[in-house]
Amino acid sequence: MKNILVIGAAGQIGSELVTELRKQYGINNVVAADINLSANAEVLKAGIFEEIDILDMVKLYEVMKKYQIDTVFNLVALLSAKGEDEPFLSWKVNVGGLVNLLYVCVEFKAALFTPSSIGAFGPGTPRDNTPQDTIQRPNTIYGVTKVSGELLCDYYHKKFGLDTRGLRYPGLISSLTPPGGGTTDYAVHIFYEAIEKGHYTCFLKSDTQMDMMYMPDAIDAAIQLMEADPAKLKHRNAFNVTSMQFDPEKLCLEIKKHIPNFTIDYNIDPVRQAIADSWPRSLDDSCAREEWGWNPKYNISSMTEDMLKVLRKSK
Ligand code: NAD
Ligand code: SER
Repeated sequence: MKNILVIGAAGQIGSELVTELRKQYGINNVVAADINLSANAEVLKAGIFEEIDILDMVKLYEVMKKYQIDTVFNLVALLSAKGEDEPFLSWKVNVGGLVNLLYVCVEFKAALFTPSSIGAFGPGTPRDNTPQDTIQRPNTIYGVTKVSGELLCDYYHKKFGLDTRGLRYPGLISSLTPPGGGTTDYAVHIFYEAIEKGHYTCFLKSDTQMDMMYMPDAIDAAIQLMEADPAKLKHRNAFNVTSMQFDPEKLCLEIKKHIPNFTIDYNIDPVRQAIADSWPRSLDDSCAREEWGWNPKYNISSMTEDMLKVLRKSK
């Protein structure tokens, strides 16, 4: 990776990925791009920033050419809950945007990273220890766009030799940028409210277990996968990755170790509960471990300790 474009850079992942890439590859070799600069303007403007709508193919082409981009991180998407509110826009942005990037990446022979999600699985998928290769019949528009994205990326690799790679991220927990409208968002909100109010009202049932990951591991995974020896990759789009599984009750008990008076109650959102109930309870990520050495650093205890420390410091 020499000249990198991160599109969707103002979001939960992008805002942290851009800083790490600039640290590792040089501030002048990373172009941050987003349709919206209101979030994280300070972080993004610390280096090169371009305002781009992923649906604007002409602008994408111009930016790829101007900076001689050889690697693109595509972080643009409407997440699962937002997608159910706006299914038409979800397809247009998630799939239409990806198709534009696939086109320009073929033109410039650039590698392309596009995250998939646990949302690419559905009610027919085995929910425990979900295999890398299994049934994928999601019943959300987000999931439909994620499966379509995985297939499109594999197709462009086979048809045009494009270097496409991807991860099926679980719910991501981070302290810099709030999540953008997903089903796993509770696992971030709970930390803010634990510190501010000592109480959290959760929109999922207490025993809703899902895969989760702390942002530093998610960032490492993306960079490590894009640096991996292609000869070793039997899979490409997209690898199951995980580092912890918990439900709201278990996370509450973990937070209580640091804030003993913390309390939780439940006011269930039926839409997000139904989405969570259709997703895996735990992923099998052995292919990622075997093919490119995936090995996360954080578990629920170390993640909770670090989240509380970082959030308290930023208050
Ligand atoms: P996010 O919602 O926080 O950020 C998305 C960014 O895309 C936003 O900054 C938004 O302004 C930008 N954007 C939206 N429409 C655009 C357009 N037309 N042109 C240019 N930019 C546009 O999302 P995120 O959480 O950072 O997720 C990034 C990727 O990772 C997505 O593909 C998502 O599906 C995937 N993922 C995220 C999680 C998670 O928990 N955050 C889990 C699994 C997969
Ligand atoms: N965190 C994401 C969501 O809940 C998973 O892809 O939508």
